[in-house]
Amino acid sequence: MKASPDAIIQREQAEYLDRLISQTDPILLEMEAYGAAHSVPSADREVARFVEITAQAIKARRALEIGMAIGYTTIHLARALGEDGLVITIDPSEEMIKAADGYLERAGVRNRVRIERGKALEVIPRLRETFDLVFIDALKDEYAGYLELALPKMRTGGVVIVDNLLWGGKVATDPASADRDTGALQKFNEDFIQNPRLKALVLSVGDGLGYAVKIS
Ligand SMILES: C[S@@+](CC[C@H](N)C(=O)[O-])C[C@H]1O[C@@H](n2cnc3c(N)ncnc32)[C@H](O)[C@@H]1O
Repeated sequence: MKASPDAIIQREQAEYLDRLISQTDPILLEMEAYGAAHSVPSADREVARFVEITAQAIKARRALEIGMAIGYTTIHLARALGEDGLVITIDPSEEMIKAADGYLERAGVRNRVRIERGKALEVIPRLRETFDLVFIDALKDEYAGYLELALPKMRTGGVVIVDNLLWGGKVATDPASADRDTGALQKFNEDFIQNPRLKALVLSVGDGLGYAVKIS
């Protein structure tokens, strides 16, 4: 069956869903406000919650986040993994790490999070853990490299979640885009769906969310 073009969400439905999953956690609310005021590229509320629900559903204990910003999704992940869980999150920005450190502490999850300071393409090869879940959310033109490096460090049955795959709609409307990030995401989306080690799809959640299980 073909997907119907009418299925694309309209503004009213998007606003309704936004109201429906209203935020009540004071720290997350503060982070959302801080992000909006300082143009921090945090994940959408529904994306962070989707990542959290998935981590809980698969009973994840080890998660890798590539691109932490101020730690908004990191907190969701850490809470989902539970007290014996560990989130390893990577970011090269001192400014982001400083802000995240404070939020993670106040959220009571700092002891379940290891922040790796640096560029993901250099950090991932050094990691020794096996991950149940990987969340990719850093430089768009490096997504393919992150996936290639992270896949061997995941267990079979582990889940990969990738943010921004619709890239504000540009991947669909600019065929073979000359824009570096759009072009990279167009190529990534095709490779992601066809990757023989994954069963994958792209969901119209947030800015487009890649969702896959590692099958081999
Ligand atoms: C979209 S934000 C991450 C949002 C975060 N995952 C969340 O859910 O709130 C992207 C982050 O990637 C970081 N970043 C930039 N270059 C990077 C690199 N080479 N490796 C890892 N992270 C990088 C940026 O500093 C920024 O904080």
